[in-house]
Amino acid sequence: MKTEVGSQCLPGRMQSLNEDIHKSSAPEHTDQSDGPTLNDHEDGKAILNIVFTLRNAQNSNLSLTIKMFETFEAKIHHLESRPAQNSKNWAEDLDFFVRCEVQGSVAKMLINSLKQVAEKVSSSREEKVRWFPKKLRDLDRCHHLVTKFEPDLDRQHPGYHDPEYRKRRSFIADLAFNYKEGDPLPRVEYTPEEITTWEEIYRELTALYPTHACKQFLDGFQQLEQQCGYREDNIPQLHVVSRYLTERTGFRLRPVAGLLSPSDFLASLAFRVFQCTQYIRHSSAPKHSPEPDCCHELLGHIPMLADKQFAQFSQELGLASLGASDEDIEKLSTLYWFTVEFGLCKQNGIIKAYGAGLLSSYGELKYSLSNEPEYKVFDPEVVALQPYQDETFQPVYFVSESFEDAKSKLRIYASKIKKPFSVHYDPFTCSVELLDKPQKVKIALNQMNNELKSFCFALDKCSQVKVLHKTPRSFCSFTPQRERIVIWFDLLHA
Ligand SMILES: [Fe+2]
Repeated sequence: MKTEVGSQCLPGRMQSLNEDIHKSSAPEHTDQSDGPTLNDHEDGKAILNIVFTLRNAQNSNLSLTIKMFETFEAKIHHLESRPAQNSKNWAEDLDFFVRCEVQGSVAKMLINSLKQVAEKVSSSREEKVRWFPKKLRDLDRCHHLVTKFEPDLDRQHPGYHDPEYRKRRSFIADLAFNYKEGDPLPRVEYTPEEITTWEEIYRELTALYPTHACKQFLDGFQQLEQQCGYREDNIPQLHVVSRYLTERTGFRLRPVAGLLSPSDFLASLAFRVFQCTQYIRHSSAPKHSPEPDCCHELLGHIPMLADKQFAQFSQELGLASLGASDEDIEKLSTLYWFTVEFGLCKQNGIIKAYGAGLLSSYGELKYSLSNEPEYKVFDPEVVALQPYQDETFQPVYFVSESFEDAKSKLRIYASKIKKPFSVHYDPFTCSVELLDKPQKVKIALNQMNNELKSFCFALDKCSQVKVLHKTPRSFCSFTPQRERIVIWFDLLHA
């Protein structure tokens, strides 16, 4: 699956009282979780936009209303009134718009109190941070497609003039549109023509892999051939591949109908979910697809997602995107492009491919390692700003020393992205938690501390066994805590 860079729209500036509240009260993404919402400030305060109508505003209702804001210690940033719309008594009735800052925990009480004296009370919290999924099932709302390369719209698409192909692609896309978290992954019965297309691609690419693909890819591919039915004459089913990946690295697949928006696609990676197309490219152009298809996903992406280091790298890209600004999402998408899609790495001093865009394209795979293009050392600060090409071969590729090296650099880069919080992925609940309060960080640290203890305990056991077997009995004694921690960190960085 490729992501499209820079396709997100910034929310427009609000225009009027009624438009304000209309737009704000029914956002496409509404945070419905318990506890502090994404719109709350770091100190627990929220910005509220409230619209209400007061009948006979000249009487005591107005002072009573203002008193309520005082009672809940709401700091009014803006207050505006106008004759009430659709009111028979327009000279006496007034519409009010109030923008205020209030403790998030009392926001609902303030609104309920206002409803006792005012009419048509509606409110919204001001969006400070882009909505993002926090639970697996939230991914049901991450389905925004970029339609740039679709066969129904793009005249250059090989399937544009083939109504049968478009119908078939649309049928398979609908399987993804109808999918909800927890459903069984859709099974597609591929036609003989589709299998022939797959066969041609499979044969050509697998001939190149031994010399062009990195070791992790080759290992993963071998496993997929043995366990998931990767063969010339068989297009593997998502549920089989997903089960295998989950056992290896915790990644799972989710069907997608086409090219996904960058923020939705990256957000899915944060949950170790890979959004995967199931339709196949047009049979007239087996060597080229303008959009991601099952050949690209299954051959290019899946083998790498079976590698633990790479899976971690992918998830960290996704986690970095949660709550990031449009500008940072665009940079992260570019990073994704030049790593997960078109990345190269060194192995034993030789450059090998690990990017899915390369490993699913016979022509570009050969070209990328031909010494024809320009090679640059992987540096996230540089990569994030590199213009890229989505219609022909890349003029420049970035070479990582290793996945570990790329992961460390990415971690440093991500830590500089400005967000009012950090996020923590809980693998037990498959959910993302905002670390925006010291108490939450404490709880996460406690959990980590318990894990650390069990690792230390395991290390103790290992070293005791090792000492018993390899050193004189006199050295087989208590291992100081400090030494255990040093060993632990050494192991981590080995
Ligand atoms: Fe891709």
